[in-house]
Amino acid sequence: MRVRKLPWAEEYLPKQAALVVNCQDYKGKWKELLGRDQIHLEIGSGKGDYWKGMSEKYPEYGWIGVERNTSVAALALKKVEGNDLPSRRFICSDAKYLDEWFEEKELSVIHLNFSDPWPKKRNMKRRLSHHQFLEVYRKLLDDDGKIIMKTDNTQLFEFSLIEFQNSGFHLDEVYLDFRKEEHDEDVITEYEAKFIKKGQPIYRGVFSK
Ligand SMILES: C[S@@+](CC[C@H](N)C(=O)[O-])C[C@H]1O[C@@H](n2cnc3c(N)ncnc32)[C@H](O)[C@@H]1O
Repeated sequence: MRVRKLPWAEEYLPKQAALVVNCQDYKGKWKELLGRDQIHLEIGSGKGDYWKGMSEKYPEYGWIGVERNTSVAALALKKVEGNDLPSRRFICSDAKYLDEWFEEKELSVIHLNFSDPWPKKRNMKRRLSHHQFLEVYRKLLDDDGKIIMKTDNTQLFEFSLIEFQNSGFHLDEVYLDFRKEEHDEDVITEYEAKFIKKGQPIYRGVFSK
């Protein structure tokens, strides 16, 4: 996500009640912290529209957003300033540390929305649906755990379908044009809104363990 560096972000972030800094301390305790039996984790939350919208639509679940870009994370947290929900938190860090923060089987659903496609082969490992990430997700998801992925990017979607299959995930649902119909159960992300405006199809896959 291209956002100019916001000079106030570094100072602003740690003051936000929804931000969790010492994530390792909550390993195995997130359900207790959020007061919910099921945890949804969004990786690469960007400016937070999905995380905010879904946590308000489904307050019966715990919602954690992860975004590594400080300026973008600050914009996400600004959207919920003064509107703290006990069931949502935000982490400003890199998803490569996920297994330091979460215990095995601690998560119910992982959401990957419009992840960076990293088109060059040499950057393949950075894709959030690369099998090295999928191995970690598999460990952290409970037995009924799911990964829900949306993207506009054909190459990334093709790549991901193969990675999910080779990592032993089952394809439960697939959409090649998800927004052709109304989907009130789901929230439109910032990127998604742009692609819908341009008339581009949105791919969506639901994968289970
Ligand atoms: C293309 S944007 C999509 C943002 C949002 N999900 C949406 O749909 O509008 C991808 C976001 O993922 C974040 N990101 C990429 N790799 C990440 C990682 N390894 N850990 C945390 N965030 C990551 C980027 O900083 C960027 O903000």
